[in-house]
Amino acid sequence: MTKNLFWHEQSVSHKARISIKNHDSAVLWFTGLSGSGKSTIANKLDLELNKKKIHTYLLDGDNVRQGLNKNLGFSEEDRVENIRRIGEVSRLFVDAGIVTLAAFISPFKNDRESVRELFPETKFIEIACKANLEVCEHRDPKGLYKKARAGEISDFTGISSPYELPENPEILLETDNATVDESVQKILSYLEVNSILKL
Ligand code: ADX
Repeated sequence: MTKNLFWHEQSVSHKARISIKNHDSAVLWFTGLSGSGKSTIANKLDLELNKKKIHTYLLDGDNVRQGLNKNLGFSEEDRVENIRRIGEVSRLFVDAGIVTLAAFISPFKNDRESVRELFPETKFIEIACKANLEVCEHRDPKGLYKKARAGEISDFTGISSPYELPENPEILLETDNATVDESVQKILSYLEVNSILKL
């Protein structure tokens, strides 16, 4: 499908794009069950980075699925396509110099690895939001677990669709044992210690 296409070299390089900001770019990829805290933590982190005058953008599953990905459902095939598109969108944002926060269940290891391969080693940071299914189900912020148990939603992650735990995430957040602020601090110190956003 890519035949008869040509890559146009662009005059403004990635380096030139980040050099007009005071920071480098990267993708912070949040993965975890529904209710594991991805969106809440990513949203708070987004706010903290914005306060530090870091140019960020937050891509969140629920929101992106109402726009760009509104033609996708929750079959395995659609989830693969969901993550493939977000990986590519994140690549564009990171190329543009924006610190990109992506909060998606992204249940399949293979798909997360395919996204990782789109980036240089230090620019893809996988953040595993780990909470027991029982905890997520108890939180049930959107009432979806209840519906899934009642058979009103099919292919629900953790109930009737699988979630593959990350084996080697850059950051592991045990969200049933930490506050949102503690998790945000953990990410901020990772970025600092590893000079991820330094030019
Ligand atoms: S992913 O699996 O393809 O990565 P994504 O993060 O985009 O999922 O969307 C998950 C969100 O969609 C959940 O937070 C939840 O609000 C909603 N949702 C609706 N149906 C389902 C379902 N069957 N499984 C999981 N999440 C669902």
